[in-house]
Amino acid sequence: MKKPDHYAVFGHPVAHSLSPLIHTWFAEQTGEALHYSRQDVPPECFETAVGAFRAGGGQGLNCTVPLKELAFRLADTLSPRAQLSHAVNTLLFRKDSVIFGDNTDGVGLLRDLTENLGLALANKNILVLGAGGAARGILGPLLEQNPKLVIIANRTEERAVMLAEQFASFGNIRACGFAQLQDRPFDLILNATAAGLHGQLPPLPNGLIAPGGVCYDLMYGEKALPFLEWGRVQGAEIAVDGLGMLVEQAAEAFWLWRGVRPSTESVITRLRDRA
Ligand code: ATR
Repeated sequence: MKKPDHYAVFGHPVAHSLSPLIHTWFAEQTGEALHYSRQDVPPECFETAVGAFRAGGGQGLNCTVPLKELAFRLADTLSPRAQLSHAVNTLLFRKDSVIFGDNTDGVGLLRDLTENLGLALANKNILVLGAGGAARGILGPLLEQNPKLVIIANRTEERAVMLAEQFASFGNIRACGFAQLQDRPFDLILNATAAGLHGQLPPLPNGLIAPGGVCYDLMYGEKALPFLEWGRVQGAEIAVDGLGMLVEQAAEAFWLWRGVRPSTESVITRLRDRA
């Protein structure tokens, strides 16, 4: 019998990654014969670890924090969305030996927002908190939805300004610091900062959420709690974490590797029930 194809997630740390569980459930659901593991890979070992994984017959990888920029640099060919985000979360080792790099984070977020939560983003005012890699990965797909305005607000204002300049040709996008957000209601606020990793919240003024507004944290579980709690207190109609985005970005990677699109709804429900 043919050995199952091998995939893995590389990260540092990676012990709590849900990706092995998600891809195992996708494989069960679709009947695809694959094995998916996790490997703790410090940045300085990344290239060697990828080489060893390929030499062992590995077919593709997911790369998570802090390896997405290294994966971007390692790939021989990049998808347009990976080029735009300067980060790669999915590697495909092609039969012609080319390493193809993609970034499925942005499309994963968009699928969760538009298909799972049923939101329409055209003509909406959107606030993105943070100007690091996570923010960068979602700006292209967000602007494709033709929102009225996207504002990037960041603790270090210059980083937000630089990011807004880089994406200016894709839509109406501006930048500011948190203090300048006073009295501007938004239909959707996305938290793409790392503040939740330390149980913190960016210093946000009151009155930021428009009636019926949505707060979405790109992180999931405990790390999303400070921002989601803030959103509920501030009157958000929906305050939701990034678990759906995690499953959707995985489904897009699965599609790239296997040419089969798994259904995500049951996987999101199973993960929520598990928590
Ligand atoms: P990532 O790839 O996860 O985006 P990053 O590039 O290190 O990681 O960016 C982290 C983001 O979270 C940045 O926007 C950072 O703000 P600065 O650019 O000012 O550093 C933001 N961030 C981290 N901790 C924060 C905190 N306690 N409050 C507000 N913003 C914070």
